[in-house]
Amino acid sequence: MVVRPAEIGRIRTFIPDDLTDITELSNRTLTEYYTPDIIYDIYRAWPESISVYVAGKRIVGFIAGAKYTRTEGRILLLAVEREYRTMGIGSALMEHFFEICRKNSLLSIRLEVKSDNAEAIRFYRRYGFSVTHTMPGYYSDMSDALLMWRML
Ligand SMILES: CC(C)(COP(=O)(O)OP(=O)(O)OC[C@H]1O[C@@H](n2cnc3c(N)ncnc32)[C@H](O)[C@@H]1OP(=O)(O)O)[C@@H](O)C(=O)NCCC(=O)NCCS
Repeated sequence: MVVRPAEIGRIRTFIPDDLTDITELSNRTLTEYYTPDIIYDIYRAWPESISVYVAGKRIVGFIAGAKYTRTEGRILLLAVEREYRTMGIGSALMEHFFEICRKNSLLSIRLEVKSDNAEAIRFYRRYGFSVTHTMPGYYSDMSDALLMWRML
């Protein structure tokens, strides 16, 4: 059976009360370590750039972005709880972020992804991102990042 994200929950804008849940979700699902302060700084820089996906009362996914330049947005963090993956939640969060970027007159989006994160790279490629170059030793464990980019 195909499950549609709208049947699981909904997207809403992040509020500071979500900080603990988001930090814990980040540190369960992403390989870099994030503190609440880091996430709060992202929120303060551009409050509407963080959106959460709520199923029942639980936050099961979120996206956080930034303005990289006056015309370029950037996806900083995107994560979905393991048991909620491949249901379209990641796509819904990304589409929502694209809309926010368009409303802010941004023209393109960039992101960095670990070069060995095949699942995320395939996901981003499917949504029109292409690799522009490799950034050697980008992450704290010295692994490489791929810089991926697409027009909006
Ligand atoms: C990358 C990530 C955010 C994707 O989230 P997701 O909610 O699984 O994303 P979606 O469900 O929208 O899409 C994932 C796949 O499921 C498929 N899918 C989506 N809805 C589906 C459905 N109803 N039934 C079956 N498959 C479905 C999509 O086609 C997609 O396939 P693809 O990866 O081959 O393109 C998630 O895997 C994740 O949190 N990974 C760990 C953190 C991470 O690596 N983040 C990125 C760091 S840069």
